[in-house]
Amino acid sequence: MVAVTVEGLRKTYGDVVAVDDLSFAIEHGEVFALLGPNGAGKTTTVEILEGHRRRTAGRVAVLGHDPQARSRDLRERIGIVLQDAGFDEDFTVAELVRLHRSLYPRRLGAAAVIEQVGLAEKADARVKTLSGGQRRRLDLALGLVGDPDLLFLDEPTTGFDPSARRRAWVLVEGLRAMGKTALLTTHYLDEAEHLADRVAVLVHGRLVALGTPAELAARHRSAVVSFRLPDGAEAADLPTLDGTLTPEGAGWQLQTAQPTTVLHALTGWALARDLELPALTVRRPTLEDVYLALIGDEAAAEEAVGVPVASSPASSAPRGRR
Ligand SMILES: Nc1ncnc2c1ncn2[C@@H]1O[C@H](COP(=O)(O)OP(=O)(O)OP(=O)(O)O)[C@@H](O)[C@H]1O
Ligand SMILES: [Mg+2]
Repeated sequence: MVAVTVEGLRKTYGDVVAVDDLSFAIEHGEVFALLGPNGAGKTTTVEILEGHRRRTAGRVAVLGHDPQARSRDLRERIGIVLQDAGFDEDFTVAELVRLHRSLYPRRLGAAAVIEQVGLAEKADARVKTLSGGQRRRLDLALGLVGDPDLLFLDEPTTGFDPSARRRAWVLVEGLRAMGKTALLTTHYLDEAEHLADRVAVLVHGRLVALGTPAELAARHRSAVVSFRLPDGAEAADLPTLDGTLTPEGAGWQLQTAQPTTVLHALTGWALARDLELPALTVRRPTLEDVYLALIGDEAAAEEAVGVPVASSPASSAPRGRR
């Protein structure tokens, strides 16, 4: 059964094409992640599905409704965690959660939800006194309290500390176990890899990849070899290696389709000089590697056709900027 259908969706703001001929479907019970760089069109897509923005063209169905019609039935069955929610800052956490709860016919306990997102100690604190991460937790509580069938989570864990993020993951996994459907956007690739059944990657409003995290990772039949250079050695001293060498933190990373050959060349080079390669590892590409390769390819394709791109290709950027 399909929970969300998007067909040929397009959204323009004046000259800006935010979403361009986008199509995908989300099954009931699925956690689906939309990934893509800043300005890719994720929030635009999510807000069209929520009924908060009007589309320029295309067909959209959410739980059998056109969200643009803003039907009450649909509103009562979806939960929303906006990227930027403006609250009345003078409410307390508990007041705001109870207020949201009252808008839904089917509800979870306010105190239980506040506890679940880890805000029990702040239940009586005014919203204006919350830290950034605590506000985000409140956003999550507001999305959950109506016991929705379908939850929209636009960057739900941005600003969370690592333990809060794990906690939010457990919440989302709990929703999946209850058979709920979720549409998630995130810039944390490990989050998408951990939570999402399938991911869609958007670049400039267009779909560039769609599949399970494992399917996307398998597309790149490559491996990632990481190492640091021995003291006194420079990258220019290395033998020719079959792959793309990029700086990675204090060391180097090589994405290659020939890990055996590369390792042989690299370790042969070091052994011949009686050098040790510190922190040498080989691993399968993560979703983040695949994502960066996809985004890099898109940027390169645009450069090739002369479209200016603001940022340098991700393949030359250091990883781990989070
Ligand atoms: N209300 C608006 N008016 C004009 N342009 C807009 C508006 N909202 C979004 N845009 C433009 O549409 C494009 C897509 O924006 P959107 O917010 O959907 O991106 P996003 O993928 O959510 O990015 P981020 O990761 O930064 O949240 C951007 O170029 C943005 O500048
Ligand atoms: Mg956004």
